[in-house]
Amino acid sequence: MNVVILAAGMGKRMQSALPKVLHPLAGKPLLSHVIDTARALSPSRLCVIYGHGGDAVPESVKAPGIAFAKQEPQLGTGHAVMQAVPHLDDKVPTLVLYGDVPLTTAHSLQQLLDSAGGNKLADKLSILTVELENPTGYGRIVRENGKIVRIVEQKDATDEERTIREVNTGIMIAPTVRLKKWLKTLSNDNAQGEYYLTDIIARAVADGVEVTSAQPGAVWETLGVNSKVQLAELERIHQRNIADKLLEQGVTLADPARIDIRGTLTCGRDVAIDVNCVFEGTVDVADGATIGAHCVIRNARIAAGVQIKPFCHIEDAIIGAGSIIGPYARLRPGTELANDVHIGNFVEVKNSQIAANSKANHLAYVGDTTVGSRVNIGAGTITCNYDGVNKFRTVIEDDVFIGSDTQLVAPVRVGKGATLGAGTTLTKDAPEGQLTLSRSKQITIEGWKRPVKLKK
Ligand code: UD1
Ligand code: CA
Repeated sequence: MNVVILAAGMGKRMQSALPKVLHPLAGKPLLSHVIDTARALSPSRLCVIYGHGGDAVPESVKAPGIAFAKQEPQLGTGHAVMQAVPHLDDKVPTLVLYGDVPLTTAHSLQQLLDSAGGNKLADKLSILTVELENPTGYGRIVRENGKIVRIVEQKDATDEERTIREVNTGIMIAPTVRLKKWLKTLSNDNAQGEYYLTDIIARAVADGVEVTSAQPGAVWETLGVNSKVQLAELERIHQRNIADKLLEQGVTLADPARIDIRGTLTCGRDVAIDVNCVFEGTVDVADGATIGAHCVIRNARIAAGVQIKPFCHIEDAIIGAGSIIGPYARLRPGTELANDVHIGNFVEVKNSQIAANSKANHLAYVGDTTVGSRVNIGAGTITCNYDGVNKFRTVIEDDVFIGSDTQLVAPVRVGKGATLGAGTTLTKDAPEGQLTLSRSKQITIEGWKRPVKLKK
């Protein structure tokens, strides 16, 4: 089929400089949700109608296989579809979607296609409709003897027509050759002075083309975003749907209303996630791993049995099986932890590889560093990787013990099994197996007395 996505509207009520369809839902532009759903139907042509916001829309979502047509000025939904005409393949039907209706499922669209006669035939016009308690604002589906005969817009409707509760969601599918013909006949002689796409229904009936309808699985599939209030409502619905899927897969969520997934979260068996965690990008959590409350995790691979304690921030990192992270740890891009590594509170790791069974449990910065196995990094240890201009690497070999409050001024290497005394500022390589320290000698001053308060 052909898919046309209407995305030229201005979205004034968003009160934003960003074009409406680019506002993110679950971290992804509204329009990208619609494009991804359209793609799931393997369309032969996919055309996005843009206008308001200029080239920002095509620039943000451009990808192979997507055509863009500019609609300027915006003279209505029928006028919008007219801009797509040169891009439409006559041999297959045309599906119209809205760029600001992000949650329609491919399943519902497939049912709409089936009700139009399927991809090959599709000689009927079919509309996705819903019954609403309060249909105010929507185009009403007018039926005679049960058959759809036309759609009347709220502003053009009589009082009696306004009592109809079955509404046009805007999503419809039409035989393409006929659609092109009907579009040519549209006029803007109506209450809004617009070319209404909805007028093609009466044209179809006049041409003897059967008009059918399909209904989505849920009303939220057809809800559009016109304001930040509606955007926030759809975000919650979408997040709840994702949370329910995770629960069905066996993931334990302390509260399915308090998790946000802005990307793809894949979980193994017996994963438990506490409240208020945010997952971004692609995050894989393997069997038996637990994520404490208030963690933000972006693009990470978390192996089996890992414990992430509360308040951790993790980005572009790999965490080996059995490792324990946090509370209050920060793993920055390029962190690769092997198995059974412990990264404790107020420890920051960046662009570093830490081998199995090594620990940095308190208050440390490990940057641009290669750490061997069974290394103990004491509290307050800092790799001084930056001289203000260039960055240098630190190498800490297996079985090293680094005392508290040590600075390793890179480039520097600590040999296998070495011990660094507390408070050392290491500026040269430390040899294997020996104690290295830089520290002024401790002295005690005989007979020293504390000062006393002077009398006035
Ligand atoms: C439209 C339908 C109405 C339906 C409602 C569902 C028409 C005439 N009316 O009304 O029956 O119940 O949607 O929400 O079709 N757009 C453009 N270019 C334009 C005008 C609109 O691209 O010139 C896009 C908008 O960005 C939006 C969509 O089309 O994504 C719908 O436009 P909107 O103005 O919201 O339509 P409604 O008047 O609400
Ligand atoms: Ca609308």
